[in-house]
Amino acid sequence: MSNTPPKPKPTMIEFRDVHKYYGEYHALRGINGTIRAGEFFSLLGPSGCGKTTLLRTIAGFEGIDSGAVLIDGKDMARVPANLRPTNMVFQSYAIFPHMSVAENVGFGLRRDPRSKAEKARAVEDALEMVGLKGYGARAAHALSGGQRQRVALARALILKPKVLLLDEPLSALDKKMREHMQVELIKLQRQVGITFVLVTHDQEEALVMSDRIAVMFEGEIAQLADPETLYRRPNSKKVADFIGTMNFIPAEVVGETGGQIEVQVKGLGRARLEAEQCPAGRGDAPVVGLRPETLTLLYPGQTTTERTVDGIIDEVIYFGDMTYYDVYLGGTDVEVRLSMRNTPGRPILEVGSKVDVAWSASALVLFR
Ligand SMILES: Nc1ncnc2c1ncn2[C@@H]1O[C@H](COP(=O)(O)OP(=O)(O)OP(=O)(O)O)[C@@H](O)[C@H]1O
Ligand SMILES: [Mg+2]
Repeated sequence: MSNTPPKPKPTMIEFRDVHKYYGEYHALRGINGTIRAGEFFSLLGPSGCGKTTLLRTIAGFEGIDSGAVLIDGKDMARVPANLRPTNMVFQSYAIFPHMSVAENVGFGLRRDPRSKAEKARAVEDALEMVGLKGYGARAAHALSGGQRQRVALARALILKPKVLLLDEPLSALDKKMREHMQVELIKLQRQVGITFVLVTHDQEEALVMSDRIAVMFEGEIAQLADPETLYRRPNSKKVADFIGTMNFIPAEVVGETGGQIEVQVKGLGRARLEAEQCPAGRGDAPVVGLRPETLTLLYPGQTTTERTVDGIIDEVIYFGDMTYYDVYLGGTDVEVRLSMRNTPGRPILEVGSKVDVAWSASALVLFR
């Protein structure tokens, strides 16, 4: 075993100050960032923020007004879509219903000089890769939504692109099938090692699937980081609010010494925060953020080494495996949501109950 750290993966895609207008509308407003080779990368953001537009600038379906998009070190400005080392799987995975599954998958090999037998072999391999071995002769219209999705993937993968672009590929599937396909896609990506760029507006999907995520708002990347950093150390209130649930509590900065910041938090009291708990300010009024799972309800007789505050339960939301409680803190009008895992023998508490809530200063994030 060697102790040398893994080499950072080389860059596959680079955006250099990319701007794009649709007429007067400024759709991409200075996009910078890199996507590494072999990475599962997601573009995440609300509807209309420019995810599809950015993906299409990689594919070459959309020109840009200034800046540059590089793939594998090469400026794509003069490279048309059909000559780029990319392939796209669309949201409405347009498979050809009148063709067989094998004909669909082999469609991109029409002009490939290989023999018929070799192409048939490649189709079989691609189908096996997506878990559809033996489905080649089936009529494409006789497939379920999830199976069609996999045919579309096989059709893209058979062309061995360096980069696979996926625009909300799972949005048409029901929740169960979507979760199943998420895991399948992760496995597939690891197996083929191709760079995947996924567009999604579903933050859970992005967290589950990605090595790194670019969170976009209004044509800009607000934060580009790995899922854990985005979740634990969002760099703005807006990002924090978009990813998961975050309680925001008014706070006041009362002192700063040696990188530490002392805050007075309404309903909780004084807390000393490390510098890394205070991501770059974006003009948010001073508030602290606190995730629901970092707060704990104490049951009668239970003790803790964490700090506690008294509270009154205002709402109980039962989720089967979890219960969410909305609790007023310390006799104030500050209400937080906290989550508790349900275990046998742990009763669900009732609205109006007086409780103690444990919390820890290290779980706070300050936005100011
Ligand atoms: N061809 C076009 N002409 C004019 N405006 C466009 C065009 N395509 C997109 N837009 C606008 O650009 C913005 C970004 O669109 P885009 O499709 O990239 O959003 P998105 O993030 O993919 O949203 P969604 O999640 O709804 O798919 C939107 O405001 C959209 O209305
Ligand atoms: Mg879109």
